[in-house]
Amino acid sequence: APTTLTDRYGRVVRDLRVSVTPRCNFRCTYCDPLGLGHADPVGTLSVQDVAHVLEAAVGLGMRSVRFTGGEPLLRRELPEMIACAKRLGVEDVAITTNATLLERRLDALLAAGLDRVNISLDAVSPAVFRRATGGGNPDPVWRGVTLLLERGLHPVKLNAVVMRGINDGEIAKLAELSRERPLHVRFIEYMHLNNAAPGAYRSAFMPGAAVREVVERAFGPLEPVPTDPSAPARLYRVPSWAGAIGFINPVSEPFCGACSRMRLTSDAKLRPCLLNDREFDVRPALLSPEPVPALQEAFLVAAHRKVASGVTAPTERRRTMVAIGG
Ligand code: GTP
Ligand code: 5AD
Ligand code: SF4
Repeated sequence: APTTLTDRYGRVVRDLRVSVTPRCNFRCTYCDPLGLGHADPVGTLSVQDVAHVLEAAVGLGMRSVRFTGGEPLLRRELPEMIACAKRLGVEDVAITTNATLLERRLDALLAAGLDRVNISLDAVSPAVFRRATGGGNPDPVWRGVTLLLERGLHPVKLNAVVMRGINDGEIAKLAELSRERPLHVRFIEYMHLNNAAPGAYRSAFMPGAAVREVVERAFGPLEPVPTDPSAPARLYRVPSWAGAIGFINPVSEPFCGACSRMRLTSDAKLRPCLLNDREFDVRPALLSPEPVPALQEAFLVAAHRKVASGVTAPTERRRTMVAIGG
């Protein structure tokens, strides 16, 4: 088998994001407006499926894996999946989580070899947090953040999707979380991945540049911090603060040109691009007598289907983010 996976535009696919469940205990409007995360999942990947996919991916040269959801900590077998990735030699194994269950699960995850944790956190004020997450409780999330720092997993990256009229009043408070502690507070532009009505989408959208202005008005000019060009976030800091402030601007400054990502949805579809609904069903490969080579073929097909750049305008119906994995 080949040892690197390259697409038609010469981009090397190095990073795999695996959604291990479509279920979620929150219901954020930008991600899961219909509450799909509370429905019964169909055809979710088994641990064995994930093991085969990881083996295929490593054989094709992929070196980083992020487990997402839905909420990945709702999946009891997550530590097994992490251990499997580490056993196969994946260098960087991460999760993106809402952190509600971190207190209960972190030690098992770390024992399995988990390297990094990114946390979705859209508001500091409890009332706004509840509104943004469809009634979620922020208390365990903050305890999760503190626990990660105590366990030495810094920097801890926090992701906030900014929506006008929902949490734009939280921008300065969120940025300030990076003052005393090594937290990377990353503001994400709201993408049209929730089938919102186009008008509602446009009025809630806030460009990253406007978010940055709010931060600079409150704390003064930000200075750039060098970052990996294939990563979605551009990082800055307020001089003398312990952490950093990042901007993920997929809509106003698309970063598809440097993309190194491939996604696997929880219902076994390889999704070449987040912002494109073309998917490739790998269930037949998973059911074949030799799943690993069959999956490697599937990865090659899916890589070939990566587009030069994805659509960010609210033009077509899409699967919502909770169904895709962040
Ligand atoms: P790090 O390796 O820690 O930098 O992780 P990451 O930033 O790639 O992962 P994370 O799950 O924290 O992603 C943050 C957000 O960036 C996602 O939830 C998306 O909103 C956005 N994002 C990540 N990858 C892509 C991508 O390929 N395309 C677009 N449009 N947005 C992306
Ligand atoms: N736009 C931007 N980011 C989104 N996420 C989910 N839905 C959207 C969206 N519509 C991201 C958030 C969350 C992660 C799971 O996915 O960062 O933290
Ligand atoms: Fe759940 Fe994360 Fe989606 Fe919120 S953004 S509904 S926490 S998967």
